[in-house]
Amino acid sequence: MDITTTSPGLNETRSRDTAPGIVVYVCRSCRSEADPNPNADPRPGATLAQAAVTLGQAEGVDIRSVNCLANCKRGLSAAMRSADGWSYIFGSLSEDAAPDLLVGARLLSSAPDGLMPWRGRPDILKRGLVARIPPLNFTEETP
Ligand code: FES
Repeated sequence: MDITTTSPGLNETRSRDTAPGIVVYVCRSCRSEADPNPNADPRPGATLAQAAVTLGQAEGVDIRSVNCLANCKRGLSAAMRSADGWSYIFGSLSEDAAPDLLVGARLLSSAPDGLMPWRGRPDILKRGLVARIPPLNFTEETP
């Protein structure tokens, strides 16, 4: 079966992928660090996730909503997975951080060494960095 004839939407998405090899997962369940009101509706994480998914669709970056990233005590959270490079966990994001996530995804996608460069990285992705995770094939010489 020729998938191109059955999935034109998929091909369309791939052809305008502006951060190839990157998927951003945004937690839709996070509460605000400043105001962790359990009854907030919508939750601040849901607001960020919806805005990021919508912006990603408009600008060709694969951004997906996820229920929880187990980073709940660090405020609004997102994970940035890289097919070949390092992956990142961020916390302490704001509800309006969607554009910053797109900038970060594009930086990581175009990084020749697979590491998101510090230069050009949005401040919120500097302050909110929780951890980075090496790619599967990574090994490091030890003395
Ligand atoms: S609720 Fe968002 S990381 Fe757990």
